[in-house]
Amino acid sequence: MPQSRLPIVVLISGSGSNLQAIIDAAARGELPVEIRAVISNRADARGLQRAKDAGIATEVLDHTAFASREDYDRALMTLIDRFQPGLVVLAGFMRLLTDAFTRHYAGRMLNIHPSLLPDFKGLHTHRRAIEENADEHGASVHFVTAELDGGPVVLQARVPVHADDSPQQLAARVLEQEHRIYPEAIRWFAEGRLRLGEDGRAWLDGQPLNAPLTLEAGQT
Ligand code: GAR
Repeated sequence: MPQSRLPIVVLISGSGSNLQAIIDAAARGELPVEIRAVISNRADARGLQRAKDAGIATEVLDHTAFASREDYDRALMTLIDRFQPGLVVLAGFMRLLTDAFTRHYAGRMLNIHPSLLPDFKGLHTHRRAIEENADEHGASVHFVTAELDGGPVVLQARVPVHADDSPQQLAARVLEQEHRIYPEAIRWFAEGRLRLGEDGRAWLDGQPLNAPLTLEAGQT
């Protein structure tokens, strides 16, 4: 019997390379999701074209057309819910989210952040990792809660920071790992193995995660 696919909506603001990794994994049959829509807050996001090329519905909800963050998030919730997703996937969606929004999708919204959380929450993570002489940097997939980049981390990938790295070089090294770990964590959720527990921790295969998992190089 064919495996049932979890309906998801992906939110983007830019290039959409993580979106592409999700599209590709689903197309290869490695990720049991149906991408019902890709929504961007920016009309010029390159990821919109990636979605169109894959035959996925796209929507633009321009935040500059709204008077307040609350108004925008309300409209965004209405738009997302039209597609009835079981999971909302933030893939480079560069917006601060209201409490009402994060509450509405509690336990059914994942984000990927380009750092080893809880280190370097917020913006410019690669530059800050270099400035602080970090030996290691990376990316984290986490459930989204009201606290910015503060929800329980599910899966991380680590990369070395080289002495002569530019932020762009480091970002590219991290992004390559993002493309591995995000489809993997989404797959766990889609298979019903991953959930946000009432205790606020992420649970995988019936066990609470006391520390984030790490996907080692070569593992898929
Ligand atoms: C990714 O590095 C993602 O981790 C980051 O934006 C980039 C989007 O790239 N997200 C954040 O910084 C969220 N705070 P993409 O559009 O090519 O997937």
